[in-house]
Amino acid sequence: MPISRPLTLALSKGRILEETLPLLERCGVVPEEDPESSRRLIIGTNRQDLRLLIVRATDVPPYVEHGGADLGVAGRDVLMEYGSEGLYDPLDLGIARCRLMVAGRPGTDFTRGRPRVATKFINITRRYFAARGIQAELIKLYGSMELAPLVGMADFIVDLVDTGGTLRANGLAPLETIEEISSRLVVNKASMKISHRRVRALVDDLAEAVKAQESL
Ligand code: ATP
Ligand code: PRP
Repeated sequence: MPISRPLTLALSKGRILEETLPLLERCGVVPEEDPESSRRLIIGTNRQDLRLLIVRATDVPPYVEHGGADLGVAGRDVLMEYGSEGLYDPLDLGIARCRLMVAGRPGTDFTRGRPRVATKFINITRRYFAARGIQAELIKLYGSMELAPLVGMADFIVDLVDTGGTLRANGLAPLETIEEISSRLVVNKASMKISHRRVRALVDDLAEAVKAQESL
């Protein structure tokens, strides 16, 4: 019988890796070396038919959509911003939980006038403000959005909030939740067909692992 190509799972360093590895371990999958400290971008596992691909968080959807990886783990924020029509997203892993929020100076009203809003989530923000009939001026940033109102460059930001500590430390407050966020397992559409049995088995194992983790 021909040996089939290993399945590849795209993960990003940091939170997603930290919170996905325990789920994988529950499925009996252990990386051959520590992906957090390794400089390798492809890391084998104890299972010959599964390897990990280490990519930037925002690059998980394109890697999976275009077949660079069979599966991946990505935040719902990243998927909403990228557009997930080209992917299957069969499972909420319940990890990296946070909220995508509008934030600004405490007590300010972002629904009045023409607010200037800084964010890296430009597509989500455009849709959100348009749906509310607010004509916002959007400023695309790549990080540290909290700084923009402090230097008078923007009135509001759209960013991820967990404890609220980063907002507070910068004199800002959460104003409205746009979306509850957690990370999802995404699957390449062709892989779902071609490697259906193996992909399905991994999805089912991970679903069990999520249940077990959540019942702790
Ligand atoms: P990059 O480093 O490539 O710019 P990133 O900084 O967005 O990406 P992470 O900070 O690891 O990468 O975030 C990965 C995902 O974790 C996000 O897409 C989001 O879904 C979730 N997340 C981000 N910040 C938090 C947080 N403070 N608490 C919980 N989950 C978070
Ligand atoms: C994320 C997000 C906020 C912070 C919110 O940044 O962009 O800045 O977490 O978390 P909190 O509400 O618990 O303070 P992250 O820590 O991922 O840093 P980053 O700028 O590298 O993405």
